[in-house]
Parts: sequence; C-alpha cells; structure tokens
Amino acid sequence: MERLLNTPAIAQGLRKVEARIRRLSGSSTLPGINAGAERIISAGGKRLRPAMTLATAIALGKQPDRRVITAAACVELIHAGSLVHDDLMDNATERRGTTTLNAELGDGKALVIGDFMLARAGLAAITAVSRPVAEVLAATVVELVEGQYLETTDLFDPHRTVESALRSVTGKTAALFRAGCLVAAVCAGASPEDRARMAAYGERFGLIFQVLDDLLDLTASSRELGKPAGNDLRQGVYSLPLLMAGEDVSELLGRNMTDDQVAEVLRRLRAGDMVHKTLDYCRGLAADALAALPVIHDSETAGILYALPTAYIEQVSQITLLATVN
Ligand code: FPP
Ligand code: MG
Repeated sequence: MERLLNTPAIAQGLRKVEARIRRLSGSSTLPGINAGAERIISAGGKRLRPAMTLATAIALGKQPDRRVITAAACVELIHAGSLVHDDLMDNATERRGTTTLNAELGDGKALVIGDFMLARAGLAAITAVSRPVAEVLAATVVELVEGQYLETTDLFDPHRTVESALRSVTGKTAALFRAGCLVAAVCAGASPEDRARMAAYGERFGLIFQVLDDLLDLTASSRELGKPAGNDLRQGVYSLPLLMAGEDVSELLGRNMTDDQVAEVLRRLRAGDMVHKTLDYCRGLAADALAALPVIHDSETAGILYALPTAYIEQVSQITLLATVN
C-alpha cells in the first residue's frame, strides 16, 4: 500500500486531489457546514481510493489531468460522507483519532454535513468531469446505501449467511473501490473490456480491504485498532470472517454482551481456523483481481497494481497471526 501511495507520480497527483477535496468540501455558503466537512477531511485517512483512481489512469496511458483529479476527489468525498453517516448510525464517538461529527455537533448536523459531501461530489462530477463519470458515481452511491441497509437488516441475526454478508460488503465497500478504478478508465477513454477489467480489479481489491478490516476487528487489539476490539460483535455485525470460521460461536452471540463474553468469542475464533480461512479466501480474491487486470504498458504502475492485493494481505496476515499466538 505504501508503494502505491509513495510512487512519485501518484503522490504528486494525490497532492492535487487533496487540494480539490478541500476546495469542494469547503464550498458551502454556510461556514458551519464547511467547518464540519473540513474536520472529517483533516482527520486523515489514507486516500487509498483516489490513489487507485490515479494509478488506473496512469496504467491506461492517461496522465492525471483536471478531470481525473476531480473524479478522484469526488470518490474520496463520497467515502468521507459515507463515514459521517456510518458513525451516526453506529453512534460512534471516535474515528481517525478524533471526535466524530455526530458526537461533536449532534446527529442532525452530522446527517446533513454527510449529505452535503455526497451532494457536492455529485455536482462536481456532473459539472467538472463528465456525465458518464457522474452516472458511475450516482449508481455507486445507490450500491453503498443498499449494502449498508442490508447490514442493518442482518444485525444480531445468528443465521446471517455468507451470501448476505458478501452482498453487503460488495455494496458498502467494494463498489466504491470499483468506481474509483472505473471512473479513471472512463476518463482515459479505455475500451469497454479494459473498463470492465479495471472495475473488476477494483471490486476484488475492495472486497479484500473490507474482509481484512472485519478480520482485524476480531483479531487486533483495541490499541492497534484505535477502537474497542470486537466492536462488530457488540454492534451485531456478524462479518464474513466470523461466518466463514469453522468454530460455531452462535450460541454466545447476542445483544448487550459483557466484556467477558466478547473476549470469550474472540478467544475461540482466534484459536480456531478463522484467520487462516479468511486469509485464504482473500488470497483467492487477489488471484481473481490480478487475472482481471488488462495489459498495462507502464511498467511501474503495472508493478504496483500487481503487487497491491497480495502485499496488503500479507501485511494484515502478520498482525493477525501475531494476535493468534499472543
Ligand atoms: C464503514 O464500514 C462504512 C461504509 C464503508 C459504508 C457506509 C455507507 C453508508 C452509511 C450509506 C451511504 C451513505 C452515503 C453518504 C453515500 P464499517 O462500519 O465496516 O467500518 P468502520 O469500522 O470504519 O466503521
Ligand atoms: Mg462502522
């Protein structure tokens, strides 16, 4: 991931994307909205999705111009807006080491600031990029909403299926990674086949990203996560790693779990085959992602995109395997 973010052409593009994100998120006529949006944007984040937009553009022979930069900024604005809504839905008080907007300003203001970021991204896409890119982003927001909705309908369901969880994460997370790659391919004027290939790559990587995020929630320490370990269990989100584990912990799950009950579920899952099964599942997704990539003439970007899925899986594997021996 560091290789993607630190490659000079991408790092340079990301600086322009950052300036565009700040201009867009600070463009309300109401200072209160600008201050709220600025807080979530300044709180950090790796800017992974826009980095993938830039990498895709370069891979397809297009140097990131104003349109690509704006498209990448729109993708990140949608992501940031969705996190504002996610925190509101979760009643979360902290993200990225800082107080969430809902905790700071109340639910109503957080809700409309998230709406503003989403709406501003749509407006920028239609006015400063292109109609096809705006269409991709609007369709992606629909998928995000549906994926998130599906998660809420499955909360605390001990019979949640792998298929339902997969459908939810494909919508709530993989769709935006897919869009990040697809908008770049559209801006680059790529062939329908190359668009579909880059979109499939982005979607597979997005799935890996979310499944590993879910695995870390069940394996990393609270200190490593910056939030309480086992948060998903407490909130009733029975994620793919838990559902794929051979260990049946369903009789221990439920509402209002005590710290000891959460610790017991985590202990059982860590001692079983969950980590290995999840990592193997992700390695399969990585193979699919690489198989989807089109022919890339720029050797540096080709190297980055080929290495990214496996490098990320192995990075998380180190953390999770350490957690299972501790
Ligand atoms: C974080 O996942 C949440 C998402 C990736 C998507 C949230 C989507 C919505 C709220 C619906 C769409 C809203 C807009 C404005 C487009 P997580 O809860 O698994 O991760 P976390 O641990 O970082 O909270
Ligand atoms: Mg959340």
